[in-house]
Amino acid sequence: MAAMADRGKPKLKIAETIRLILREFESKDAESLYDLFQDKEVMRFSTGTLSRDETDLWLESQIENYKTLGFGLWAVIKKQDREFIGYCGLVNFPDILGRQEVEVAYRLKRPFWNFGYATEAAIAVREYAFERLRINRVISLIDPNNIASINVAKKTGMTYEKDVMLEGYDYPDRMYSISKDGT
Ligand SMILES: CC(C)(COP(=O)(O)OP(=O)(O)OC[C@H]1O[C@@H](n2cnc3c(N)ncnc32)[C@H](O)[C@@H]1OP(=O)(O)O)[C@@H](O)C(=O)NCCC(=O)NCCS
Repeated sequence: MAAMADRGKPKLKIAETIRLILREFESKDAESLYDLFQDKEVMRFSTGTLSRDETDLWLESQIENYKTLGFGLWAVIKKQDREFIGYCGLVNFPDILGRQEVEVAYRLKRPFWNFGYATEAAIAVREYAFERLRINRVISLIDPNNIASINVAKKTGMTYEKDVMLEGYDYPDRMYSISKDGT
């Protein structure tokens, strides 16, 4: 009867902003995610578009991250009409230049770009990391040509720290960071 009792309940909510809800992904989000991962422009500064199988694996790994790390990437939902517009959340990097780092990451469907949604979601995620998870510092790793993403990092209060060469990349990403104490 547990399934009956859960029906219609909101999925685990992580944060709420003026216009958005951030909640955990669940298996039935696969189709919405596939739609996001199919857009070449959305995936331009990433590994390219994802197949259905790759999307399923991505989704499974986030659900696993919620259990093992207590965080992951979360679905971004517009409050007004409950539409799924993308993801924003936290990614664990066990070792970047000898240090464990937690990244604030975001990706939105194209019709929702340039409305300030990524900034709104990223600020909520930053606060969740600092206040709820007691993580003292978060970073963002950004392709130097990805101006929109750099703008979001800056509007989230982050500052440029250094260039970082990640495994498998041809050129370094820009690392932006912010600490809980504001440094
Ligand atoms: C990066 C991304 C999440 C930004 O989402 P968004 O909701 O449009 O972001 P915001 O509206 O909060 O802010 C974007 C800012 O960049 C600016 N901007 C957008 N495209 C730009 C461009 N090509 N050149 C310069 N500035 C640009 C916007 O004007 C805005 O700045 P402003 O508020 O000072 O005007 C979205 O573009 C996206 O999903 N891109 C594909 C995935 C991706 O690159 N993710 C980040 C990987 S590091």
